[in-house]
Amino acid sequence: MKVTVIGAGNMGSAFVKQLSRAGHQVSVTARDAAKAAQLAAAHPGVRAVPVAGAADDADAVVLATGYADAAAALAAVGKLQGKVVVDITNPLTPDYMGLTLGHSTSAAEEIAKAVPGAEVVKAFNTLFAQVLAEGADFGNGRKASVFVASDSERAKHTAGALAETLGYAVVDAGGLKNARYLEPLAGLNIYLGYGAGLGTAIAPTWLRKA
Ligand SMILES: NC(=O)c1ccc[n+]([C@@H]2O[C@H](COP(=O)([O-])OP(=O)(O)OC[C@H]3O[C@@H](n4cnc5c(N)ncnc54)[C@H](OP(=O)(O)O)[C@@H]3O)[C@@H](O)[C@H]2O)c1
Repeated sequence: MKVTVIGAGNMGSAFVKQLSRAGHQVSVTARDAAKAAQLAAAHPGVRAVPVAGAADDADAVVLATGYADAAAALAAVGKLQGKVVVDITNPLTPDYMGLTLGHSTSAAEEIAKAVPGAEVVKAFNTLFAQVLAEGADFGNGRKASVFVASDSERAKHTAGALAETLGYAVVDAGGLKNARYLEPLAGLNIYLGYGAGLGTAIAPTWLRKA
């Protein structure tokens, strides 16, 4: 799949590494072009591309900026009509221990409003960057879940296919509105990892009895 990653920070770097390893055609763009170029150079076959038009030939766009930067980052990329936008953001308070919105909306729904015509899917927001960077193997055949929520079946299928190629178990979490549950779930994961001291080698997983 042709994937454009917007952002070259913790999550952007982890996506570039794992998506390119999984055989996807990966492009990366960032506000700081040098940072994108450096990241691309570290992974064979990855291209650093200018922000404007970065998603023109992409099958999926991974939005790996902070929530506060998301709308501006997507606007700078340009036309996203009909594109699948994978929203991995969590709208965190500055101390990372709370969310700036929720209950009656979500980051994903607000981002969808900012890019009408794009097909937004919430996914990957419950995985720490360290987990994503190191790979999906939790030992003993255990797989972490990637929850996908969208009003577009195509967008859910696309994000789910990406997650599967990275080795995750995909959980269809319903419509985009259910990002209102997935963002607090990431908040709990952050509390457990940092607040409760479990560290970042953890991830929420949904199981069904055999
Ligand atoms: N870190 C985690 O473990 C984790 C886990 C799950 C979800 N998330 C979510 O994933 C997102 C990224 O987190 P992160 O830890 O990777 O943050 P980060 O390390 O701060 O990276 C954010 C990146 O976005 C770039 N950016 C900002 N505005 C941009 C724009 N207009 N165009 C292009 N790039 C732009 C920043 O560029 P500059 O360097 O130029 O500022 C930076 O490279 C956040 O929404 C976070 O809530 C993070």
